[in-house]
Amino acid sequence: MEIKIFKNANDAAKTVETIFAKTLKSGDEVFGLATGSTPETTYARLVTSDLDFSNATAINLDEYYGLNSDHPQSYAYFMNKHLFNKKPFKHTYIPNGIAEDPQAEIDRYNKILEENPRNLQILGIGTNGHIGFNEPGTDFASKTQLVNLTEETIEANQRFFKKREDVPKQAFSMGIDSILDADHIILMAFGENKADAVKDMIEGPVTELLPASILQKHNHVTIILDEDAASKLS
Ligand code: PGA
Repeated sequence: MEIKIFKNANDAAKTVETIFAKTLKSGDEVFGLATGSTPETTYARLVTSDLDFSNATAINLDEYYGLNSDHPQSYAYFMNKHLFNKKPFKHTYIPNGIAEDPQAEIDRYNKILEENPRNLQILGIGTNGHIGFNEPGTDFASKTQLVNLTEETIEANQRFFKKREDVPKQAFSMGIDSILDADHIILMAFGENKADAVKDMIEGPVTELLPASILQKHNHVTIILDEDAASKLS
């Protein structure tokens, strides 16, 4: 694991932009993307950059179950708003939150993942150590699943919704095994509330109880932190 610590998320985003640029320049064009507050500064930089993603493919980690792509809190809406509407990609994939047949949707997504190995995968981390929506206890060998969100995740994501009852209780998530397929993984974490999860991910044992800890076993991981998220590292 390579660990880079920046003063703040804006400074961090400059470095992530250069990694995107290098990846594109080498001819690698399949990107695994994430949503949430964490990648926002990165997407803002990509949007104003002169990088050309018109031949690139984006495959997102997850989507709330029960929200359609027009719902302002859906991850499809987030991606269109923060990135794709301003910086077009050739292909974009995200689970269909209102799929009538969840198993068929899971099969469809796993096929997309098999056919499009990721060159670069962007991740955030939950306060409970989740990656994507792979909550503590998820099998490291998991593929796409319909996941029950933990109370901690529902609590953390409540800030985006009017009422707690509005937060979906389930989500489709790319599995950990598929996340690990990427050639290069960048995990970003900003803010003091991520400091414990970051410490456990880097310095703790590799355990399914802290899903992000599996990144210790991947051969090309860059951890991008601000000073607050790094504050508990020894
Ligand atoms: P956040 O979420 O970027 O909104 O903090 C990250 C995550 O839960 O993976």
